[in-house]
Amino acid sequence: MTSTGTDSRLKLAVLGSGRGTNLQSIMDACAGGAIPVQVVCVLSDVKDAYILERARHGGIPAEFVDAGPFRTKLEGAGEKRYIERLRHYGAEAVALAGFMRIVKRGLLDAFRGRILNIHPALLPAFPGLESWKQALDYGAKVAGCTVHLVDEGTDTGPIVVQRAVPVLEDDTPETLHARIQEQEHIAYPEALRALASRRVRIEGRRVRMGQKA
Ligand code: GRF
Repeated sequence: MTSTGTDSRLKLAVLGSGRGTNLQSIMDACAGGAIPVQVVCVLSDVKDAYILERARHGGIPAEFVDAGPFRTKLEGAGEKRYIERLRHYGAEAVALAGFMRIVKRGLLDAFRGRILNIHPALLPAFPGLESWKQALDYGAKVAGCTVHLVDEGTDTGPIVVQRAVPVLEDDTPETLHARIQEQEHIAYPEALRALASRRVRIEGRRVRMGQKA
């Protein structure tokens, strides 16, 4: 992972399809100097996603990029378009923040070991959609969020950071999701701090954060 010129901050691209509250937490951490990261662009597969507005409001280049005909994955010409825009902005790493598509080999190969995702559950429990609802329906007593490196699977890559929240007796899907999101906004900057300072070492499935890689 290299940075050019005098600015040694990690050049990060954020990809999202929704509200962008995680983007906001990352932008706030960057602006406050809490993490040595610069968000160089925000790309979305949804034209009117609020994440794009948040980015522009924060002075970050933001683009809708057509992801192609598949609804749930990023492949083929759409994938090529994303890789081209990421290179255009000089991205060194990618943070998926509510990006509602499975990324495939082309993007994984272009940013091997440098794509993170955030998932609203304590993986490997409850992968997939609406995990907070799955946890509630299952009767779990503890829920949470996971930041993990992205691999070929769905929500399967090596885990970088997890934060737990208790499931309360009177929780609804909405209240539980809101408390999980509060923890997401701490977890993502924490994982990015480790990635940017090259403290993330992967040994098999285990991510170690102790020393510089
Ligand atoms: C988060 O709950 C994240 O865990 C999931 O998508 C949601 C994105 O929220 N992958 P936001 O757009 O960052 O507010």
